[in-house]
Amino acid sequence: MAFKTPSLSFFVQAECKTTRARSGVMKLPHYSVKTPVFMPVGTQGTMKGLLPEQLEDLDCEIILGNTYHLGNRPGTDVLEKAGGLHKFMSWKRALLTDSGGFQMVSLLKLAEITEEGVKFKSPYDNSEIMLTPEKSIEIQNCIGADIIMQLDDVVQTTYQDYNRIKEATERTSRWLDRCLKAHKRPSEQNIFPIVQGLLNGELREKSAREHMTKNVNGFAIGGLSGGESKDEFWPMVHLSTGVLDKYRPRYLMGVGMAIDLVVCVALGVDMFDCVFPTRTARFGCALTSKGQLNLKQKKYSMDLNPIDKDCNCSTCKTYTRAYLHCIVTMETVACHLLSVHNIAFQMRLMQKMRENIENGTFPEFVHNFVNELYSNGN
Ligand code: GUN
Ligand code: ZN
Repeated sequence: MAFKTPSLSFFVQAECKTTRARSGVMKLPHYSVKTPVFMPVGTQGTMKGLLPEQLEDLDCEIILGNTYHLGNRPGTDVLEKAGGLHKFMSWKRALLTDSGGFQMVSLLKLAEITEEGVKFKSPYDNSEIMLTPEKSIEIQNCIGADIIMQLDDVVQTTYQDYNRIKEATERTSRWLDRCLKAHKRPSEQNIFPIVQGLLNGELREKSAREHMTKNVNGFAIGGLSGGESKDEFWPMVHLSTGVLDKYRPRYLMGVGMAIDLVVCVALGVDMFDCVFPTRTARFGCALTSKGQLNLKQKKYSMDLNPIDKDCNCSTCKTYTRAYLHCIVTMETVACHLLSVHNIAFQMRLMQKMRENIENGTFPEFVHNFVNELYSNGN
């Protein structure tokens, strides 16, 4: 099964017979990415603790850049001069940028959204900035990522007001049209629409159906993982992947906890991103198949085992839990070592899922994974 365009081809190599899981290859202008894939958030400002060459060593094939931050600093002038973000940050593989609005709304909480765009105060100099769909695409065209996101009207996931959710969902469709019209490099960069609708099934389904009518090479599912329960979140993913066609890649935004990766791969998701593995590293937490270890806890002070004896990352090969416990309050070094491990953990989990889908053993894998995660062996 293959979907082919000049800027993105998607080859599904194996499909699970029981679930919607599939493995494949997404061929992008800068790299061919094996799916399902986890994309670390990898640019200045947001990703703390890892350099592009280290991400490459960890087998990352695609990372996320941040439009809003990049539009300000370093700014589009220097990016243009450098020939795009790939060259500027020395990253040769695939790159995806988010459109900026979500970051404004979720980080600054002082954004005002109108039909024209998202208005906010610059955190650098307090000046007023209007991020329109056209402006977001202009910046993203300049950054040059393989996949770029439409500007969407973002509402907090647990928000209740029906009229506002409806407005945001419909506006997202209108903004998609403006983004597609403003896009200047369609043969090199792919715009993905974002399915919205929060936790309202009808609105979400309508959003997905509308996006399906557009000439695009993949889809994102947004507006989730914002504090709602799994019982609310997973059915919305199921509903969205049921509408979005299976020939094009599906990307679930802002999701990165192991249990969600496994469940949502089973629901037919191909791509994920999240700051979680690197953010949690900054708090001294290491990810393992049995759950998280908080290395700040005193019980690790005499523990001379690696974080995970089955992990082949440089942190696990070199350092003990006791040593990490000892240095964990020294922010930068420990944060770096834990980020390496946590990204290695995410990469290995995705690789195991791809292998099991290909071997026809994905349902057993899910069963064993859940058993191990909740067995509390630590
Ligand atoms: N990152 C996580 N969720 C979202 C979303 O709904 N929209 C955008 N643009 N980015 C996200
Ligand atoms: Zn490790």
